[in-house]
Amino acid sequence: MDNRTQPLSSAPVHGGNLAQAREWFGEPAGGWQDLSTGISPWSYPVPDIPSEVWQLLPGEGTALKAAAAQYYGVDGRHITPLPGSQYAIARVPHQLSPATVALPELGYAEHQRAWLSAGHRPVLYRDIDHLMELVCERAVEHLVVLNPNNPGAETSGRETIRQLYDAHQQRGLMLLDEAFVDLQPEYSAAALIEHCPDLWVLRSLGKFFGLAGIRLGFLLGRAERWGVSSAVAAELQPWGVSHPAQWIGCRALGDSQWQSQQRRRLSTASLALEAQWQRYCAERPGLFRSVGSVANGGLFVTLRGDWESLYALYCRLGRAGVLLRWCHEDAESASLPWLRCGIPSDGGERLKRTLMEAGSS
Ligand SMILES: Cc1ncc(COP(=O)(O)O)c(C=O)c1O
Repeated sequence: MDNRTQPLSSAPVHGGNLAQAREWFGEPAGGWQDLSTGISPWSYPVPDIPSEVWQLLPGEGTALKAAAAQYYGVDGRHITPLPGSQYAIARVPHQLSPATVALPELGYAEHQRAWLSAGHRPVLYRDIDHLMELVCERAVEHLVVLNPNNPGAETSGRETIRQLYDAHQQRGLMLLDEAFVDLQPEYSAAALIEHCPDLWVLRSLGKFFGLAGIRLGFLLGRAERWGVSSAVAAELQPWGVSHPAQWIGCRALGDSQWQSQQRRRLSTASLALEAQWQRYCAERPGLFRSVGSVANGGLFVTLRGDWESLYALYCRLGRAGVLLRWCHEDAESASLPWLRCGIPSDGGERLKRTLMEAGSS
């Protein structure tokens, strides 16, 4: 199992695909409750966008960078706005010569796809301790860490990230995907980039802010040695991030009152969701091995267990219109089955009802 390389044969599957859910399960009588993504069910309330924002080109993005610098606590010179963090995930590997890259065995599959398509050699790690072993053995050049991980939900503190970075001794870059960190910003290692020249951090407005549709994210880092951020920034010139996205981003990043309110309601909903699944699993010992969620609340809960039980649960809920995210892309490798459930906006009422109606099977 150690150091396995595992090519990803087809394009990764993503949550939120209701068209496909309709094909599989039909149209549910009560409509859909889509819990298949890690996007907050409460989005930043976008004010009316002035007509000139629609009409005029966005310019240099100075206001957006200033808002991002304040929110992320990073010097504006080290910030590259992106049309979604996915933009950099797909492009960063192509800026580097083929090398070995450590990737999580279970993680957002677009990373693995991008590194493979750029000719790199993935070395898969089980958890952060395994990654540390690989780093100490000098078995890998570049490192990709998802913190918190999606879908695994494992989360490492800033100190652990720093130890990994130091142990790696700048033998390659470290790409830290923090798309899900905003609910608990104390886990973010963005502040380290001032002292860690080979560290890049990815941030997204898609998850915590519930703004996945506007396509806005950031690449934070100095990275002079690898030239990646300048190459990505150059590709985005002159108008890679739309004016409405920049305008909305400025307001969302600057609205600390809304952010606190969002943290409170997401944390409450997340802890309730985790408790709900813990109870469900405890009543069915042996069917589900564990329930993972980010410590103190995250944007999803991930169930682990055997294929049959997880798949049966996914189908039962799907037929009733409650859509979860099933690990389709791992179907052939038969490893690490999982089922992910996003935050419901109704306090988990419909999920609870549906699980009860589905019976104890
Ligand atoms: C871990 C992780 N990183 C990055 C992304 C990309 O997000 P976006 O391009 O919306 O910023 C996703 C999307 O699901 C994700 O799960």
